[in-house]
Amino acid sequence: MGEGTNFDVIVVGSGAAGLTAALALAETKRVLVLAKGTLTGGSTAWAQGGIAAVLDEGDTFENHIRDTMIAGAGLNRLETVEYVIGQAPRSIQRLIELGVPFNTEAKELHLTREGGHSHRRIVHVDDATGWAVQEALLKAAQANPNITLLPGRACVDLITGRHEARYSGSGRVWGVYALDEATGAVEAHTARATILASGGAGRVYQFSTAPRGATGDGIAMAWRAGCRVGNMEMMQFHPTCLYNLEVKNFLITEAVRGEGGHLLNPRTGHRYMPDYDERAELAPRDIVARANDAEIKRDGLDFVHLDISHQPPEFVRHHFPTIHEKLLGLGIDMTTQPIPVVPAQHYTCGGIVIDLAGRTDLPGLYAAGECTESGLHGANRLASNSLLECFVFGEAAAADILARWEQFEAPPPVRAWDESRVTDSDEEVIIKQNWTEIRRFMWNYVGIVRTTKRLERAQHRIAMMTGEVEDYYGHFRISTDLIELRNLLQCADLIVRSALARHESRGLHYILDYPETDLIARDTVLVP
Ligand code: FAD
Ligand code: SIN
Repeated sequence: MGEGTNFDVIVVGSGAAGLTAALALAETKRVLVLAKGTLTGGSTAWAQGGIAAVLDEGDTFENHIRDTMIAGAGLNRLETVEYVIGQAPRSIQRLIELGVPFNTEAKELHLTREGGHSHRRIVHVDDATGWAVQEALLKAAQANPNITLLPGRACVDLITGRHEARYSGSGRVWGVYALDEATGAVEAHTARATILASGGAGRVYQFSTAPRGATGDGIAMAWRAGCRVGNMEMMQFHPTCLYNLEVKNFLITEAVRGEGGHLLNPRTGHRYMPDYDERAELAPRDIVARANDAEIKRDGLDFVHLDISHQPPEFVRHHFPTIHEKLLGLGIDMTTQPIPVVPAQHYTCGGIVIDLAGRTDLPGLYAAGECTESGLHGANRLASNSLLECFVFGEAAAADILARWEQFEAPPPVRAWDESRVTDSDEEVIIKQNWTEIRRFMWNYVGIVRTTKRLERAQHRIAMMTGEVEDYYGHFRISTDLIELRNLLQCADLIVRSALARHESRGLHYILDYPETDLIARDTVLVP
């Protein structure tokens, strides 16, 4: 057991959602931000396309709301959609004040376009928006004396009434147990309020654009502590991840299609998207990803082509400098050649159920960002709506905590992490084997096109592995890999159970046994 801490508020995660919340709280509260690995290891730093907001005179909130609901196949909660989209211009303004250098044209913000958007409304910093946002937020957090940033801490579980020194068994959350990744000690960090901003669960799939740490830790921790999770079957696949045998998770932003890129069948050269949808390459992501998948499977291809070489070379270099340079390093000149692409998991639409203030089911616990199900995305997230969700809910959670501060009592003494019955692992191979196995069967059995039979096969494997992983967890000292494996398996289980519960095809959940869409849209909510 290592040294713990006590702060006013704990934030798990140093991405867009976590740092936004920390900055808003730090005006008056002492905040601890915990992050697994480095402070820039989440998805935020990887975001390319940008942030959606109604900023153009010809655009309206109603347009953005309608596009979001169409992409989300009507499963979105209108109240949330209206709230988030209404807050968007304010969020962009705050990022500008923090120094995010959004691209401009003739002194106005330059707005690019992405699939599912009926209007140009994506503010961006070239094709590396996330990095600029991460940098600005981190700089502000590092300069704030009320914020303590602790990287290299892998949170294991939430501290609740069950862990109080005088056992209460209540669901009240008092903080987290976290592994110090350098020393191997598990520390108890306590606070009056805790915010989970721990990102998505993309790494549950073999091919994903998400970084290595996207293992659904916050979702699994919240579930184990007693929170409901919603719509976990709605896993988003991005249509255009680079196909390269060495570089496996490099995204080619949707803005390439927004700026005129075409999808071509590499065997025939045929531009096929108009055959699938009248919006062609700018149809919502689920439709384009399924079309790419169908072309690849029908013709036995390894990839399809994304081609923007018909645009002037200077235009391509100017809009996509990061991608252009990265591809040149791999021997592809996108100004003259098509880019080989495949669909890959990209975003977790479901997650911990929260309300408009970021409150979860448990007292003292809030959540924001990709680990949540806020009602914004419904059955399929509209491009560039997710960073926006992080800013809006990071702020909302902080505002609610500040408004209710007097109701949050100080944490009681809690029990230290008990390691008396565990030893050092002598079979690390079990972790590696299970990591690989989960990701492979999730890709093959719970992917873009599903069947009940394949989902049941996945469920069967999850049941077999759960015993093995829990047994291992109970006997050996924990490591980040083991924490992540346990959480991946938990999330795989939640995804498969949710997918089996939905007897229709809607948005990202496309199942051959139930091809029709029900008249009424219903959330899949799992109760622990
Ligand atoms: P993240 O930024 O993922 O941060 C998660 C944090 O939680 C990290 O600090 C991590 O270390 C920490 N954490 C996780 N588990 C633990 C644990 N057990 N203990 C301690 N800390 C933990 N969205 C857009 O809107 N526009 C885009 O252009 C866009 N492009 C994208 C491109 C790529 C390649 C990817 C992968 C995603 C993209 N997205 C985009 C989605 C968007 O980037 C994410 O949804 C968003 O950044 C999530 O932010 P977050 O703060 O919720 O989590
Ligand atoms: C992209 O740039 O294509 C990703 C945008 C997003 O995920 O919202």
